[in-house]
Amino acid sequence: MLNFGAKSLIGLDIGSGYLKVAQLKDVKGKYMLELFDMLALQPSVISDEAIVEQEKLVEAIKELMKKSQIKIKDVAISLSGHSSVIIKKINLELNKSELDNMSEDDIIKSIRSSAEQYIPFGIEDVNIDYQILKPRNETGEVEALLVAVRKEMIDEYVNIVKESGLNPVIVDVDAFTLENMYEINYEIEEDSNIALIDIGANSTKLNLLKDGVSAFTRDSARGSKLQTDALMNTFQIPFETAEKLKRSEAVEGISPEQVETVIFDASEDIVNEINRSLEFFNEASGIDNLDELVIAGGGALVKGFPELLADRTGLNVSVVNPFKKIAISKKLDERFIKSVAAMAGVAVGLAIRRIGDR
Ligand SMILES: Nc1ncnc2c1ncn2[C@@H]1O[C@H](COP(=O)(O)OP(=O)(O)OP(=O)(O)O)[C@@H](O)[C@H]1O
Ligand SMILES: [Mg+2]
Repeated sequence: MLNFGAKSLIGLDIGSGYLKVAQLKDVKGKYMLELFDMLALQPSVISDEAIVEQEKLVEAIKELMKKSQIKIKDVAISLSGHSSVIIKKINLELNKSELDNMSEDDIIKSIRSSAEQYIPFGIEDVNIDYQILKPRNETGEVEALLVAVRKEMIDEYVNIVKESGLNPVIVDVDAFTLENMYEINYEIEEDSNIALIDIGANSTKLNLLKDGVSAFTRDSARGSKLQTDALMNTFQIPFETAEKLKRSEAVEGISPEQVETVIFDASEDIVNEINRSLEFFNEASGIDNLDELVIAGGGALVKGFPELLADRTGLNVSVVNPFKKIAISKKLDERFIKSVAAMAGVAVGLAIRRIGDR
C-alpha cells in the first residue's frame, strides 16, 4: 500500500458534525501522521445528507486549512448517505478467465448493464465504480462490489472543495475509506467476520468485513446527534452546551448522572438501528457468527456507549484506533489526537490514498 515518491495529498472528511483533515508522510516504510485537525460545524450547515449553507461550509474548510497549517492543495474526500451512495454485491455472470481477457472499458460496460436494476435513479445520473471479489466456488462466476454515487452529490462536494481553494483529486465513499484505514492498522484474520461501524453526528454506517472484504453495507440516518438533541430538549440548553456535556465537561446545574440517563435513553435508537443492520446481514448472508463490532466516529466516544452496545448486541465491542500502526509526529498534540482518534478514521483512510491508485 505504501507508495513512495507519489505526490502527497490530504484527507478531508466533510462530516456533518465536524470537518477533519489529515496528512500522512512515509517515514522508513511506515506511515507517520504529519498534521491533523478538526473543526465543529453548526448543525444547520449540513443536514439530511444535503449541504444547506454552502458559503458557511466553504468558510469553515478555509478556516480549518489555516488552523491546521496544511499547505498541500490536493485533497481526497469521501461521501456517504443512503439516498446517494449505493453499495451492492452483484454477480457478473463471467468467470475469471473471461474477466481477465476483458478491457477495463468492457468490464465497466458489463457492470453498468447489471447495475441498472439495483439503482433507484437513472444510470446516467450516477458514477459507477467497482471492486472485483473472489470467484464463487460453485460456478466460478465472479462477483463484484458495485458502488454507485449520484453525480449531483459528487458535483456538489467537488464544487465546495474547489471554492475553498483546494484541488479535489479523489472522491471515495466513507465505508471503503474506513476499510482502508482498518487494513493498515489491524491484522485481518482468516475466517473472521467483523463489523466496522461509523457512528457520526447524523448517520451510522455499517460495513461487514468477511475475511477482510466487504460483504454487506448499510447506512442509516440515525447518529450521535440524537443524544445531543435529547440533551438540548431535556435541559433546555443550546447546542454548544449539549456538546460539552457529551464530552463529560461540567455544566452548572446538571449532574453527570442526569446526563448519563438522557444519553442512554437517546442511544436506544442508534443501538436498535445497528441491531437491525445486523439482522439484515444475517438474513442476506446466513452468517450469524460475528467476531467483533469495531466502532468509529464521534458516537464511539460517548461515555458508556460501547458498553451499552456490547450489552444490547451480546457481542464484543472495541473502539477503533486509526493510529495503531501510524506514528504521531512529535510536533503534534498527541494527547488531543489520541482522545479524538475514533473520529479520525475517515480522514486517515483518505490520507492513505495516492493520486492515480484505485
Ligand atoms: N469527545 C467526545 N465525546 C462524546 N461525543 C463526541 C465527542 N466528540 C464528538 N462527539 C460527538 O460525535 C459526533 C460527531 O462525530 P463525527 O465527527 O464522527 O461525525 P461526522 O462525521 O461529522 O458526522 P456524519 O458522518 O454523520 O456526517 C457529534 O454528535 C458529537 O457530539
Ligand atoms: Mg462521518
